Amino acid sequence: MPATASIPADEVAALKADSFGRIALMRGDDGLFVRRDLGHVPGWLRLPAWWLARREARALRQVDGMAAVPQLLRWDGRRLDRSYMDGAAMYQRPPHGDLVYFRRARRLLQGLHRRGLVHNDLAKEANWLVLADGTPGVIDFQLAVRGHPRSRWMRLLAREDLRHLLKHKRTYCPQSLTPVERRVLKRHSWLRDAWFATGKPVYRFVTRRLLKWEDNEGQGPKP
Ligand SMILES: Nc1ncnc2c1ncn2[C@@H]1O[C@H](COP(=O)(O)OP(=O)(O)O)[C@@H](O)[C@H]1O
Ligand SMILES: [Mg+2]
Repeated sequence: MPATASIPADEVAALKADSFGRIALMRGDDGLFVRRDLGHVPGWLRLPAWWLARREARALRQVDGMAAVPQLLRWDGRRLDRSYMDGAAMYQRPPHGDLVYFRRARRLLQGLHRRGLVHNDLAKEANWLVLADGTPGVIDFQLAVRGHPRSRWMRLLAREDLRHLLKHKRTYCPQSLTPVERRVLKRHSWLRDAWFATGKPVYRFVTRRLLKWEDNEGQGPKP
């Protein structure tokens, strides 16, 4: 895998910038790709930013060759290059009444989980794409976890991924929720309850007070 510095590429558009790096759409010799650049991350955040980017690189290696997720092109410790997927975020092009989208999204999740990867950040509509042909795509693997697909922990996290997808289905395709899906939505795991009791207030404090983020890309997570 070549180092990012050796790749001639031009910036086409800035996509997002926050304390954990700057995301830009780039054009290289082989076409468009998306770069996360940690170059301007403030010193005190460099370690967590690097850790998150490395996490994403490792997650993408785990799903190498899979459709509907970005391919890892390069990671050199400072810049992370991923293949570009042509589409729009779910909140920009909502899949209203599109049952086929949600069926495929479920299969996509099953594919990730079978390969020993859970995403962990699918409550955000910004991390779901509606690709140019109307099919689903998933991006942003910074919080993904790798493990044995049949371990209890991975199955618990996989169920949380699924619950997040079903919440989007409830928003855009409410009549198509099956009784089993309604039950999954109703059943709260201890993990979710622990997150709302402790993790979420801490996360809010860190992101809003310390990092001055407004976590509303894609209107934020659904309750
Ligand atoms: N592979 C990709 N293809 C198309 N757009 C992308 C891709 N990766 C990121 N983006 C765009 O850049 C935005 C930020 O990227 P993301 O990896 O989600 O970073 P963050 O972790 O900061 O949310 C996304 O919401 C999306 O609009
Ligand atoms: Mg994101």
